[in-house]
Amino acid sequence: MTTSPKDLRADGEWWRSAVIYQVYIRSFADGDGDGLGDIEGIRSRLPYLQDLGVDAIWINPWYPSPMADAGYDVSDYRGVEPRFGTLADAAALIAEAHEHGIRVLLDIVPNHTSDQHPWFQAAIAAGPGSPERERYIFRPGRGDDGAQPPNDWRSMFGGSAWSRVGAAGEWYLHLFAPGQPDVDWEHPEVRAEFTETLRFWFDRGVDGFRIDVANSLIKAPGLPDAGDLPLSFGPDRGEYAQHPHWDRDEVHEVYRSWRAVADSYAAPRVFVAEAWVTHPYRLALYVRRDELHTAFNFEYLMSPWTAGALRSTITETLAEHAVVGAPPTWVLSNHDVARHVSRYAREQTGQLTHTLDELVGKPADLQLGLRRARAAALLTLALPGGAYVYQGEELGLSEVEDLPEDTLQDPTWERSDHTQRGRDGCRVPIPWSGDEPPFGFSPDGAAGPPWLPQPADWKALTVEAQSDDPDSMLSLYRRALEIRREHPALGDGTMTWLDLPDGALGFAREPGFACVVNLSASDAVRVPAEADVLLASAPLTAGGDIPVDTAVWLRT
Ligand code: GLC
Repeated sequence: MTTSPKDLRADGEWWRSAVIYQVYIRSFADGDGDGLGDIEGIRSRLPYLQDLGVDAIWINPWYPSPMADAGYDVSDYRGVEPRFGTLADAAALIAEAHEHGIRVLLDIVPNHTSDQHPWFQAAIAAGPGSPERERYIFRPGRGDDGAQPPNDWRSMFGGSAWSRVGAAGEWYLHLFAPGQPDVDWEHPEVRAEFTETLRFWFDRGVDGFRIDVANSLIKAPGLPDAGDLPLSFGPDRGEYAQHPHWDRDEVHEVYRSWRAVADSYAAPRVFVAEAWVTHPYRLALYVRRDELHTAFNFEYLMSPWTAGALRSTITETLAEHAVVGAPPTWVLSNHDVARHVSRYAREQTGQLTHTLDELVGKPADLQLGLRRARAAALLTLALPGGAYVYQGEELGLSEVEDLPEDTLQDPTWERSDHTQRGRDGCRVPIPWSGDEPPFGFSPDGAAGPPWLPQPADWKALTVEAQSDDPDSMLSLYRRALEIRREHPALGDGTMTWLDLPDGALGFAREPGFACVVNLSASDAVRVPAEADVLLASAPLTAGGDIPVDTAVWLRT
């Protein structure tokens, strides 16, 4: 099936309904045979993405980087990492993607630079009290000899969020790895620099940006201790309390200025925020009309596969987004979380989960996880708003939970003293074709193996193996995306819950569409009268009812 490319000029607010495919560049396709994905690889797979039927791709950071955190440690925001290609390759990719009807979003990392960024190098060289240090967050230590970090903040990868310059120097803040020093967003040069970077890529035809840790840029004056301020998500989250470095109100001013830059283009550019916030209404604040366009909905991602939990997160998401008039987004997986086949393969206890380390040791039924993931795909793609597809979810890949320890690269592994495996298990290179690794990820005669080893049993899951199988996950995604493109009820808009037995979820969308999911109802769920099945994630019962862990799309 080859679809004709969409006319990208035709739809102004395309992002309100878009399906955006996440290309984790390191693991998507390796064009030059060094075992690491690259721009040439993405270019070669554009026909695949067009056939799949996505509206846009978001590419994880491709800038020059020492790779202390897989590219989220950027040493030059306006260049391309040589292992990924060149600026000319980037320009060619953007142009070719547009010819295939696919828009291109990049990933901007404004909270921190690499410690190899010229600004940080200059700050280290210039010493305490220098203007160079003011672009970052340097402080003297606590205690008599300054040997204690300036406050109690923790790195997201484990340990203190502060590292000391030499044995007796100042400390600098890094909410992530030591190779990722936080910049100071109170500094006008920091603001100006990032605005320039936005323009640099927008001027090269990039359609938008995903904003990395969009909620962390502003720190509380005086950098007070965080203490034991709980950061909890989900139903037990309690009252919202302002945290000294997460989701501070002052961050919104930054995004109002970014929105003005995006809107200054004849084809306005768009943003999606990565903002892990504790309350859905706090997320909606990022997508007010004069701020960002969309934000990832991580509550949905973390939700257990139960009708009650999903219904409440969907209802709350829709209500909070309606207040500000922004479309929600729906996301099941990304490069930071355990793949959802593996999450859904576990007993659904009601807890919110997203990391592999929360799953380790819990019995898994991967067939069940896959069945639920098929149903989840239909649920996700039927909800109002936009949706994200993380590369490989359309192949039904599960988390690789048993990567050999000597292959692990996520900084979490080292910083947790080898107690947390981190995020490499969802970053294993994509299997495209053939019977053995590298499964077409790298070209024949490649110089090295893929940067993370692929499981041998992925041979049944390659794009090639699934393409002509009407029952494959890939065929389900292709068909769902095809229907979604054509059906006037899908994408942006509203929905109405249907009254169904406990354990089932269903909603109607106008004109003439309904989605019904049986998550755990004790009996198979009836297809509503006078409805025809457009698509089902699994065969219906002999009587034509919807069995457990199955979703259907209906013409009503
Ligand atoms: C975001 C990225 C993650 C990265 C972190 C620090 O959460 O998605 O991969 O490690 O920011 O930049």
